Amino acid sequence: MLFLLSAAAVYLLASTVRGQSPTYSATYLPSSVPYQTEQGQTGYNQCGSGYNQTSECQNTFINNVQDFCLWAPPEPGPDSVIGNTEQIEVSWCMKNGYGTRLIPDGTITGAHFVITPDYVQVTGTANLTNINIPAGDAGGELDPHGATGEGNPIGGVVFSSAFGDMEQLHEWTNFMGSDMFCFRACKPADDAPTMCNHIYDEMGCEWNMPANYDSGTFEYCQGDSAEPMGVYGASTFYQGEPSTPAAHPIPSSSSCTTYSTISNGAGVLAGGSTSSTPTSSSTSSGVTSTSRSGSTTGTSSATGISNAAIRVASPQGMESAFIVIATLLMSSSLGAVMLL
Ligand SMILES: *[C@@H]1O[C@H](CO)[C@@H](O)[C@H](O)[C@H]1NC(C)=O
Ligand SMILES: *[C@@H]1O[C@H](CO)[C@@H](O)[C@H](O)[C@H]1NC(C)=O
Repeated sequence: MLFLLSAAAVYLLASTVRGQSPTYSATYLPSSVPYQTEQGQTGYNQCGSGYNQTSECQNTFINNVQDFCLWAPPEPGPDSVIGNTEQIEVSWCMKNGYGTRLIPDGTITGAHFVITPDYVQVTGTANLTNINIPAGDAGGELDPHGATGEGNPIGGVVFSSAFGDMEQLHEWTNFMGSDMFCFRACKPADDAPTMCNHIYDEMGCEWNMPANYDSGTFEYCQGDSAEPMGVYGASTFYQGEPSTPAAHPIPSSSSCTTYSTISNGAGVLAGGSTSSTPTSSSTSSGVTSTSRSGSTTGTSSATGISNAAIRVASPQGMESAFIVIATLLMSSSLGAVMLL
């Protein structure tokens, strides 16, 4: 009985981690967010306007392909790998005006933004050494529920106007490596924790967010939602199980608007320098292609593991290990009960 009770308690915790219908202690707008939102936060959420290449702002925005931000280290150097800095990442944005740092022009070499019924997502290639990720860092995963219960980064808040008015998107996951990124933030809904699940932190971008990662293309598309990561019909895969299922197929997208490039509009270049003739944002080079339907490049590789943005033995990994243990405990206690 004791065993059964403890197994039940563990399951309760595990389902809290997996999150069915989450409730949040507070929901913010950029104008109403307090200076800091979580205990232990190194940066801040009241960020002002304009931009500042030493800003410690921890608000990201994910609005469209010309207007998104990524989490990356505050300082350069070999020790700044994502695995070491996940609690202190700061916001680097494509657009001037949020009081964050700007992603230097030329950094993003391909970006594919998709808005679906359940989420917004941007995936692509980049030279992210320009935003302090050490060359060769296979990277790691950022999300709002780290091992301590606070976010990675602590106090990180995500906003979007992609679904209408500006709002906080509580559920999100962002993999960052030195040459690749993927960032999904979910529309507020009961299934947001499932569609933005972040327990697969060792599985990389292409497995978690099957999408177009081609370089040389910048586009904003409507799309179908992907199958929730890790869920295959009635069965759910947990990281660490002996056989890894293939990534879900890349969902269809259509009504893409393509751009020849994207830029921050302020002429900020790598190394903190500023171009003397700031390039205007690339709105004028926008080209709308009427439709592009069908899966972009079919299904992704069956190996499932991308070598970008993988982090092994992370604190975050404990969360999934915990679920695995909880599941094992539960099944063994069920077995015991059945024997009785
Ligand atoms: C830029 O941000 C840093 C860190 O918050 C701050 O100390 C500095 O004063 C800011 N610079 C400007 C010009 O606002
Ligand atoms: C990334 O950018 C840095 C400086 O901007 C440059 O030195 C380096 O060669 C670039 N890396 C790649 C892989 O292009």
